[in-house]
Amino acid sequence: MNKKITILGIESSCDETAASIIQEKNGEIKILSNIVSSQFDIHKEFGGVVPELAARAHVEKIDLITEKAISESKICLDEIDAVAATAGPGLIVCLTVGLNFGKTIAASLDKPFVAVNHLEGHALSPKLNTNLEFPYLLLLISGGHSQYLSVKGLGNYKRLGTTIDDALGEAFDKTAKIIGIEFPGGPKIEEFAKKGDKDRFNLPKPILNRGGCNLSFAGLKTAILRIRSEIKNEQDKFDLAASFQRTIEEILIQKTKKAFEIYLDENRSEKKIFVVAGGVAANKGIKDKLIKLSNENKFKCLFPDLSLCSDNAAMIALVGLEKFKKKLFNELNFKVNPRWQLDDKAKFLKGAGVKI
Ligand code: KG4
Ligand code: ZN
Repeated sequence: MNKKITILGIESSCDETAASIIQEKNGEIKILSNIVSSQFDIHKEFGGVVPELAARAHVEKIDLITEKAISESKICLDEIDAVAATAGPGLIVCLTVGLNFGKTIAASLDKPFVAVNHLEGHALSPKLNTNLEFPYLLLLISGGHSQYLSVKGLGNYKRLGTTIDDALGEAFDKTAKIIGIEFPGGPKIEEFAKKGDKDRFNLPKPILNRGGCNLSFAGLKTAILRIRSEIKNEQDKFDLAASFQRTIEEILIQKTKKAFEIYLDENRSEKKIFVVAGGVAANKGIKDKLIKLSNENKFKCLFPDLSLCSDNAAMIALVGLEKFKKKLFNELNFKVNPRWQLDDKAKFLKGAGVKI
């Protein structure tokens, strides 16, 4: 079959306004354009994303960004087969902008509309640069989520473990903020860590040997708050960043070993594929450690391309493409879903007194 399928993807769930055109031809997927407008400068003075400011910036930018994605892709508007937009999870005021914009374009072009789960975008993202096939074990590590999932197929997820408090990206950002690094601190912590002594500070590894492959990072923030008075100069910051990076790597190694065990108990006869995705997958130290661990355990380990780890619309268009092939379209009255989970049967595991 040499039919071409062309999808417009739109993303506005948090602080990135993004649009992308991808095309599948003879089974090969190409990103024709991938435009991302980040709002770091708007939010940095507040130390985190301010939803109303983010939504306003999406409203101001979304048409320009989409126009740019279409013109850069060099396709004609009538080549678009479907429009896909993020419907959740995320900030409700932000999601509404992209979702309504996507629906309007789909309606005006008279093309099918696909409402996309942002997390499914991350989950499938390595398919844009590798030939990823179901089923696989997924570690999704972003600013809002940290989960191990068994991915059985499109829309078919079973959660094996989750954070019971902060997400990993959030832990990076909070640590950065405590030691005075500008938002978003994740990438900066990694940079600082290269110049520091990883053994100087002894940080906790919450629930390391219990709770299966559930994760917990809030205790690290508390520990860092406690030693904040010891951080007096740049070298102290480098040492703390290096100790934090080492601690996170050790937690992920231990918990991933556990996740391999749990996954294999249920999927003994399947190929051993391990995918790591989401903004924190851009962290090279974490990537190197998890690839090594996968090799030792005979798992094929796949990461998205560095440019596709953080939020983008190519991954949203990709989910649109896969759903288009299965004719899984949505009505134009589809509502935003700020708490949309990949495994909707999984128990809510956050807050005090939670049993893991
Ligand atoms: O997936 P993403 O772009 O947005 C969400 O869906 O949340 O992830 C953003 C998160 C932020 O917390 C950011 O600090 C973190 O990913 N991040 C990193 C790195 N690059 C981005 N954390 C650690 N090391 C990095 N290199
Ligand atoms: Zn994301």
